[in-house]
Amino acid sequence: MEALEFSCFTRRPGSVIAIDSVPEMLEKAASNFEIAAEANDWFDPSFVTLMEGDALDLPVPDDSVNLAASSGFSKTSLSMTWHQ
Ligand SMILES: C[S@@+](CC[C@H](N)C(=O)[O-])C[C@H]1O[C@@H](n2cnc3c(N)ncnc32)[C@H](O)[C@@H]1O
Repeated sequence: MEALEFSCFTRRPGSVIAIDSVPEMLEKAASNFEIAAEANDWFDPSFVTLMEGDALDLPVPDDSVNLAASSGFSKTSLSMTWHQ
């Protein structure tokens, strides 16, 4: 959902990267983007690049994005964060 919201501001192919550690969530996002494109004239699924990965070890080069946001981590990830 956040990827769709961010792409409303950017509106350019490849301008938003959405990362999730669960492949099924990425598949669901891809199908939801197709539905969103039918319902919203301004949106194109090409605006969002879906990637599998860990939010605490992002699969993108350092300094390659302007803004990073999160809508939730697993308990394991939070636990790792607090103990570092
Ligand atoms: C509350 S859901 C939000 C999903 C999506 N952003 C949305 O708005 O529909 C949290 C998501 O974070 C993912 N997640 C949890 N821990 C993660 C981690 N360490 N790295 C990447 N994704 C993680 C879960 O698989 C889940 O899909």
